[in-house]
Amino acid sequence: MAFTRRQFFGFIGLIGLNSCARTGLDKVDISRLKPDISVPRIGQSKKYSFVTINDTHLTNARSVAIVNRAVNDINEIEDLAFVVALGDIANDAEVSAFRLAQQAFERLEVPCWAVPGNHDYGSNPATSLNNYLQYFEEAEWRERRGDWVFIGFNSCDEQEYQDVMVPQYRLDWLAHELERINPERPIALLTHHPLNPNTARYRLVNAEDILALFEGHNLRLVSSGHFHGNQIEERDGVLFMTTACCATTRDNMDGTPEKGYRVYHVDGESISHEFITVQA
Ligand SMILES: [Fe+2]
Ligand SMILES: [Fe+2]
Repeated sequence: MAFTRRQFFGFIGLIGLNSCARTGLDKVDISRLKPDISVPRIGQSKKYSFVTINDTHLTNARSVAIVNRAVNDINEIEDLAFVVALGDIANDAEVSAFRLAQQAFERLEVPCWAVPGNHDYGSNPATSLNNYLQYFEEAEWRERRGDWVFIGFNSCDEQEYQDVMVPQYRLDWLAHELERINPERPIALLTHHPLNPNTARYRLVNAEDILALFEGHNLRLVSSGHFHGNQIEERDGVLFMTTACCATTRDNMDGTPEKGYRVYHVDGESISHEFITVQA
């Protein structure tokens, strides 16, 4: 049975950020149906936190243990609004791996969204993202929490892992989404492949073209996976992040042993963050 993204994660709808317990499977996020530009007041929202977890590279039941430990920890975070899985959820795009992800993430007490990574694409171009889409339905999306807009952006070009150029039609999708966003509203862009200007490896070939689309908008954060290592830098008021993997099937590419996830704390337009280690 295919779940919609909201059916799968039990979407919350219009309830407050402090009461993000899971609800039924038929809730509709009415706020998302309204154009952001219609929301008049910015700067009034409450503080909240969100989590990114990336590169779980699930293969079998044993491999999901670290994700289950992470979920247990994440459920203890106060004022948590949502979780985003930043790709490479599966190691080899297997249905069984996405099912394991479903079983782990559906224990989260908040909504969980995802973007695909190169390992979430199968080898057959005709069916490459089908297994991912059975469980996550969407590869790109836009959500709003408080003042902020969160954009999940599919940065993949099938299974390519280096010198990746995001296809133009996805840049067109992003430009279209931005047209509907109040220019003052802080934006977080969530991707698998890094856009960090000085990432050690794997920057998207057309990263600057993507970032140029945000001209005239209030981009504040770009959070990514794929590199399997913690990298933090800031350019022109935009915080660029990559985070260590949360996998026992893969190592970090920077040689660091710590596995885990990242918690972001949103306070007005400000954002702080911390890396949380999970026992491997
Ligand atoms: Fe990865
Ligand atoms: Fe990757």
